[in-house]
Amino acid sequence: MQVVIFADAQAAGAYGAGLINDRLERGALNVLGVATGSSPVPLYQALAADPHPRLTGLTAFALDEYVGLPKEHPESYDSVIDRKVRRPLGLDPARVHVPDADPERLETAGERYEQRIAEAGGVDLQILGIGATGHIGFNEPTSSLASRTRLKTLAPATRADNARFFDSEDEVPVHCITQGIGTILDAGEVLLLAQGEQKARAVAQAVEGPISSMCPASALQLHRKATLLLDEAAASQL
Ligand code: GLP
Repeated sequence: MQVVIFADAQAAGAYGAGLINDRLERGALNVLGVATGSSPVPLYQALAADPHPRLTGLTAFALDEYVGLPKEHPESYDSVIDRKVRRPLGLDPARVHVPDADPERLETAGERYEQRIAEAGGVDLQILGIGATGHIGFNEPTSSLASRTRLKTLAPATRADNARFFDSEDEVPVHCITQGIGTILDAGEVLLLAQGEQKARAVAQAVEGPISSMCPASALQLHRKATLLLDEAAASQL
């Protein structure tokens, strides 16, 4: 696990974009794993500001999706990925995938998504944020470190955190489909971004704590190519 600390989120985003552009340049990046949340936004902005010619040819897989929101809802991850990632990066809509959280097809959603990732040849580089609970994707504490894409219940703390995107906490969905920790660990490379004091404890547990399902991000200690790009506040408890 490599930890790099920057003065601010913009510097971290610019470094991450440089790393992605390097992989694009070398032809080593075809499938990008993308994350929602505010943490990767400076990275997406830096990529969009100076787009590499191969950027628009990428296939992308999102980590997760809420269950119970129509795709068109502005806070569905389908909409968020479209707004924050696909459009700014100029990706082909047909190559951008988000888990299918249609309530009619939930039982097979995880397996179908895993299959799509496998058919694309696997994720070359996965972008991640981290929740204050230590979650990655929506793998909350106690998620199995070997888990695959599946239906999950959101932790109350995560619903409270994400209530800022909705009119009230009651509107935040209770369930989601998320890539598993095992799915995330299968990516060839992982780039986790975290900013701010509110992430400092989760970051410290992920980097210096034991590998434990109580801090899902600690599983990244098992990955051979995981880089954490932190601002000083997020690194303050290291
Ligand atoms: C959500 C997403 C995570 C993300 C987290 C942190 O819960 N499912 O993938 O890492 O939010 O969000 P933020 O980066 O806005 O703090």
